[in-house]
Amino acid sequence: MARGLFITLEGGEGSGKSTQSKRLQARLEAEGQSVIITREPGGSPGAEAIRSLLVTGAADRWDGMTEAFLLFAARRDHVERIIKPALDRGTTVICDRFTDSTMAYQGYGHNLGREPVEQLNRIALNDFKPDITLILDLAVEVGLKRAVSRGGDELRYEDMDVAFHHRLREGFIDIAKRDPNRCHVIDATGSEDEVSNRLQGVVLTAVKSGNG
Ligand SMILES: Nc1ncnc2c1ncn2[C@@H]1O[C@H](COP(=O)(O)OP(=O)(O)OP(=O)(O)O)[C@@H](O)[C@H]1O
Ligand SMILES: [Mg+2]
Repeated sequence: MARGLFITLEGGEGSGKSTQSKRLQARLEAEGQSVIITREPGGSPGAEAIRSLLVTGAADRWDGMTEAFLLFAARRDHVERIIKPALDRGTTVICDRFTDSTMAYQGYGHNLGREPVEQLNRIALNDFKPDITLILDLAVEVGLKRAVSRGGDELRYEDMDVAFHHRLREGFIDIAKRDPNRCHVIDATGSEDEVSNRLQGVVLTAVKSGNG
């Protein structure tokens, strides 16, 4: 059986990752694929326990390096127990945030730099990477407005200052530039349908060209 595709959705707060993950799942299922959605931080019981340490509490609860260790501890558990077994069964995995978020938030946002995140990725995941990464790009103010209107109690990052969110956005763009075969920057402005059309067009093209 062919291995499943590993697809990640990335981007700042409120850029539409969760919304578009569900829509992409429905679309790929309509194409006959078996698809699961998972998310980070979290996605496995152990990683969800670590998630609660990360998404609640004061914005400065952890320094960037501590946070990076927690994220990679959670990610390793998630990859080993959920993601790889699903891919081996031939299931496509859509993951709402993955390593690029750690690079953007800790590496660029918290100014940790790229190197520690790359090193942790090597140690924790043996450089395991997605097949396709979709980076939803949206003006910071628009994304924050969407995230706040959605509400919920996991608003820790939304409380960071606006300069942080600008570093994030630029970080994601830089990540995409460095890995153009894997990463696709998707314009996340406009209606949910418009964004879906752009994003799903990229995925279906990549799948058909064998790039997935
Ligand atoms: N294209 C769109 N136009 C307007 N509103 C949108 C659009 N896409 C999503 N939304 C709404 O914006 C809010 C944030 O969307 P969503 O939760 O999908 O973003 P997210 O990237 O997962 O955010 P977070 O990083 O906070 O998890 C939701 O209330 C959602 O319904
Ligand atoms: Mg979300």
